[in-house]
Amino acid sequence: MNDEIKIGEPVIFQSLDTNDEKNGALNGENSRGKSNSHKEYCPFSFDIKDTILDAIGYTPIVRLNKIPQSEDVKCEIVAKCEYLNPGGSLKDRISLRMIADAEKEGKIKPGDTLIEPTSGNTGIGMALVAAIKGYRMVIVVPEKTSNEKIATMRSLGAEVFVKPAESHISVSNKLHKQIPNSHILGQYSNPSNPMAHYDTTAEELIEQCEGKINYIFVGAGTGGTISGIGRKLKEKIPNCKVIGVDPYGSILALPEELNKAVKSMAYQVEGTGDDFIPKTLDRKVIDQWIKVNDKDSFLMARRLIKEEGLLCGGSSGQVVAAAIRYAKEFNLGKDVRCVVILADSIRNYMTKFVDDFWMIRHGFMSMDSLSDPSHPLFGVSWEKLGLKESEFVGPETTLAEVAKLMSQGVRYLPVMEQKKIVGYISNHSLMKQTINAKKTGDHPAWPAIIRDIQIVITIFLMISLIPLIL
Ligand SMILES: Cc1ncc(COP(=O)(O)O)c(C=O)c1O
Repeated sequence: MNDEIKIGEPVIFQSLDTNDEKNGALNGENSRGKSNSHKEYCPFSFDIKDTILDAIGYTPIVRLNKIPQSEDVKCEIVAKCEYLNPGGSLKDRISLRMIADAEKEGKIKPGDTLIEPTSGNTGIGMALVAAIKGYRMVIVVPEKTSNEKIATMRSLGAEVFVKPAESHISVSNKLHKQIPNSHILGQYSNPSNPMAHYDTTAEELIEQCEGKINYIFVGAGTGGTISGIGRKLKEKIPNCKVIGVDPYGSILALPEELNKAVKSMAYQVEGTGDDFIPKTLDRKVIDQWIKVNDKDSFLMARRLIKEEGLLCGGSSGQVVAAAIRYAKEFNLGKDVRCVVILADSIRNYMTKFVDDFWMIRHGFMSMDSLSDPSHPLFGVSWEKLGLKESEFVGPETTLAEVAKLMSQGVRYLPVMEQKKIVGYISNHSLMKQTINAKKTGDHPAWPAIIRDIQIVITIFLMISLIPLIL
């Protein structure tokens, strides 16, 4: 079977004998579910599942409508909604598979501790499986991991470490030495990672698309998804082009020149890209790479949510932005079908790219967007927002007057100078001014000002929004 791969033998599969049941590897047409201990999920069966693990996989595939139309893209673009897995991402599949394979090989047993370095979604998937199967779960995440992901992992009973000064992989190795009966299943090198996608995701795609896939666009982190899907598609649909999507600042793409422009740039999209080449990434099954920046990724993710109703995450925006750009550049016709993988869900990013103020603070949206007629605050006057003249602090306002306003429950007061907001005073800055600087109430409140316009406007609008929402 290995000889059938046209563009080179994937390194990660070399250790696997594809007739070896023990590795959960392929036998015959479709080995979906064979190596996992859970029952195979069938989309047409509505029977009671024994546990939530039986509902992993077989995610829907949905055609994009408004976005390709408005971009004048002729080809069909269909999205595999991996964010609809029970844990909210495609990583549920590999978590289940890595644990099931390790159990079969006698490497782990319930009661042991599993440690995993992850950008978050594998942590959620592993914590979900560990909760059901009875493992202690320890997860190490990089600093940029969203609070929503960390909260989800902790809710599932996992212990989560964020160590800004060290790589999450080296912290995991240290913990492994310290914790008895602990195991790192290691998504960056574990063959069960790409095999999960080779056996399930790719098989589902072929079935759902009835074998017609001309292009597939997949983001790469560990590379497990693209390597597993890519290998299966090269075997079963040899003409299908596999396109890898990589953020600017990552080094996964080939040729190397693509990565050189902005090698050390930090990027905000979570889950894709890396600064080393994982063993689970087989770049030989990838025909071409496309680099995408944060802004295009987040703006497209917001469009997918708003225009297509697909409640996905930032890396999903990244792959769709890549597909749209590619379809336009190569003028793909209406008989061409492109598949995109939507890896995770909006839930992970409620306080990040989903939030206008986060987007503005990071420079992905301009303040002018608040003057967009479709923005809820467009055209709303300050008076209408419920803010009275007296609630502003001016150059003449005294500390005693500000203290009186704050005693009525106001936590932040905007400071105005010549009818422009120049900063704000908080409870804390007021206290510092009166107690630390030993100022009496008749002194001007002016020195307590915090001059951060972005935050002022954020706080100001948030306070103002409360009566509107209520
Ligand atoms: C949001 C998101 N997108 C894409 C990926 C890439 O998947 P893979 O690690 O299989 O390359 C990940 C991986 O964590 C992810 O979390």
